[in-house]
Amino acid sequence: MAASCKNSMVTSLLFAIGCVFFLSTFTHAELQKFLHPPKPDGSLSFLVIGDWGRRGEYNQSQVAFQMGRMGEELDINFIISTGDNFYENGLTSEHDEAFEESFTKIYTANSLQKPWYTVLGNHDYRGDAEAQLKPLLREIDTRWICLRSFVVDAELVEIFFVDTTPMVDSYFINSEGHTYDWRGLPSRKAYIAAMLKDVESALEKSRAKWKIVVGHHAIRSIGHHGDTQELINQLLPILKAYDVDLYMNGHDHCLEHISDTESPIQFLTSGAGSKSWRGDMKETNREGVKLFYDGQGFMSAELTQSDAEIAFYDVMGTVLHRWRVSKQLHSSI
Ligand SMILES: *[C@@H]1O[C@H](CO)[C@@H](O)[C@H](O)[C@H]1NC(C)=O
Repeated sequence: MAASCKNSMVTSLLFAIGCVFFLSTFTHAELQKFLHPPKPDGSLSFLVIGDWGRRGEYNQSQVAFQMGRMGEELDINFIISTGDNFYENGLTSEHDEAFEESFTKIYTANSLQKPWYTVLGNHDYRGDAEAQLKPLLREIDTRWICLRSFVVDAELVEIFFVDTTPMVDSYFINSEGHTYDWRGLPSRKAYIAAMLKDVESALEKSRAKWKIVVGHHAIRSIGHHGDTQELINQLLPILKAYDVDLYMNGHDHCLEHISDTESPIQFLTSGAGSKSWRGDMKETNREGVKLFYDGQGFMSAELTQSDAEIAFYDVMGTVLHRWRVSKQLHSSI
C-alpha cells in the first residue's frame, strides 16, 4: 500500500518535471533543425529551383530534365525549393493529386532523389497552406521536407529557411481578390516577431563557414515584382548583422544575381521553374546587377571550406552565369 503510494508520488513528480521541460522548450522556441552531412571530402553541392508546379507545362519538364543532368554531374546533396510549389493556388488538401503530378512525376531523375528542402510561396498560401506541411506528403514522396521556417545544418554551411509571405503587407491590405490561408498565424504581428527572433538567434548561434538564408520573396530584384520593402526593412538588417553570405529566393519568374552595394551579401533569384518570359524589367535601381535572365532555368551552388560557386542554367542546360567567392582559411579561436 505504502509502496504503491510512494510510486504514484514519484510518477507525479516525474510528470511535473516533464511538464516543466515541455513548457520551457515550448516558450523558448527554436527553429527545427535538419542535420545533413556533407560529402566525405567536406564539400557540399545543391540545386535551387522556384515557382514550378504546373504539371510539366511551361517548360517545367525540360527544366527538370536539365536539373537531373546537372544533379548527376555535381553529385548534389539536396535540392532547395524557394516556394510557389503548386500553381495556381497551392494544394487543395494533402490528397490533392497535383502533388504527384507536379512534383513526384516530374522530377524523376536519379540525381534528384534527394531531400527537397522547401518553403511556401504566396501562391501556396492561396490554397490549403497547411496541406504542404502534412506528414502524409512525406509518406507519398519521402523527398518532401516543407516547413514554414527551419534550419538545415550541413556542417560547413548552415541554411536558414524563412516564411516570407506573411511579411508582405499587400496580401493583408489589398489582396486583389485572392484569399490566403492564414490559419497558422492568428496574430500576424506576433508571428513575424517570433519568426524573426528565432531566425536571428539561430544565426547568432551558427558557427558554420557559410550562412545562407532562403525565402520566397526577393530582397532585391529588378524583375516583375521588384524589391520587397518589408524584407529590406525587417530581414536584411539581420542578414547583415550575422554575416550572411547568400540570400536565395524565387517569386520573380526569372534568374538573377545582384550584389549588395553595402555588404558582401549576394541576392540570388531562382524562380524560373516553369512559366516565365514576362518581358518586364524594373528600370529603377540597377546597381549591382550581374545577371538578369527572363526565361526558365535553375541555379546550382557548390561549397567548400574556402570557396563558394554559384551557376545559373537555362532550359538547354547552358550556363548563363557563374560566380565564385573565396574566404580566407583561418583557424577559429
Ligand atoms: C521553352 O523554352 C524555350 C527556350 O528558352 C522558349 O523559346 C519557349 O518560349 C519556352 N516555352 C514556354 C511555354 O515558355
